[in-house]
Amino acid sequence: MTQRFAGQVALVSGAAGGFGRLAAQQLAREGARLVLTDLRAGALASVVEQLEAEGAEVAALAGDVALEATHNGLVDLARQRFGQLDLALNNAGLAHGLGRLADISADEAAKVLAVDLFGVFLAMRAQLPLMVARGHGVILNVASVAGLVGAPMMSVYAAAKHGVIGLTKSAAGEYAAKGVRINAICPSFAETPMVTEMLDHGKRPRAEAEARLTGFVPLRRMAEPREVVDAMLWMLSPANSFMTGHALALDGGLSAI
Ligand SMILES: NC(=O)c1ccc[n+]([C@@H]2O[C@H](COP(=O)([O-])OP(=O)(O)OC[C@H]3O[C@@H](n4cnc5c(N)ncnc54)[C@H](O)[C@@H]3O)[C@@H](O)[C@H]2O)c1
Repeated sequence: MTQRFAGQVALVSGAAGGFGRLAAQQLAREGARLVLTDLRAGALASVVEQLEAEGAEVAALAGDVALEATHNGLVDLARQRFGQLDLALNNAGLAHGLGRLADISADEAAKVLAVDLFGVFLAMRAQLPLMVARGHGVILNVASVAGLVGAPMMSVYAAAKHGVIGLTKSAAGEYAAKGVRINAICPSFAETPMVTEMLDHGKRPRAEAEARLTGFVPLRRMAEPREVVDAMLWMLSPANSFMTGHALALDGGLSAI
């Protein structure tokens, strides 16, 4: 196994979920020490247990990414436990139920914006000073193809993810000269709990719902989480040394047509 992240400390949010858990595992296998967070404390604890059993060095703090205190706690944890923070994968997020804009409640919209957009602002706000102090860092924000094009029935989620790309590009311009690269990744539907739960609990049978979802995707299928995480890790890796301020579509061609 290559050790692209040897000696580096990586923070991953949403670490108990589909992309986050796999990314944490792969980062550790390639040499990174980890700082992990998720809202679901029990699920996070079992991820930590599994990673430690594989020999990973892990610090974890359960919390809500919509709260400033969570991010300050995570950065303090990275500083105290490892003395540094090299990489941040700001991945925690959630979607709202499918519905036309006027059918989305104000409370649900506020929650999605708080977690998916404001949470990324708070994350970078806490992470950047530590990275700037060392003159080095890489941040990857998890947006969505819904951050690049409109997403009917998912308008507020799309607005939040468009906002993540705006934050990413603006901050990349501000911090490039300080040694910090900041990018976003924009996946289309991938087989993580976020999507499989939506498909399993929708009005239509699973196969029909999946066919409708992938009917718009030129490659005619969902992504495997591994395909997305492989791209995330390359974007975080030292090999990707000249990309900053970029929103990379990993969407089976969805945004190309
Ligand atoms: N799966 C897809 O098809 C897809 C496509 C595009 C973008 N994304 C994005 O990828 C990211 C990861 O999603 P996933 O597919 O792995 O979903 P997931 O539901 O499997 O994982 C998301 C994780 O985030 C955590 N989380 C939710 N709200 C939180 C909060 N307030 N504070 C802290 N943690 C919180 C959840 O507990 C969960 O473990 C999200 O930002 C999502 O919007 C997913």
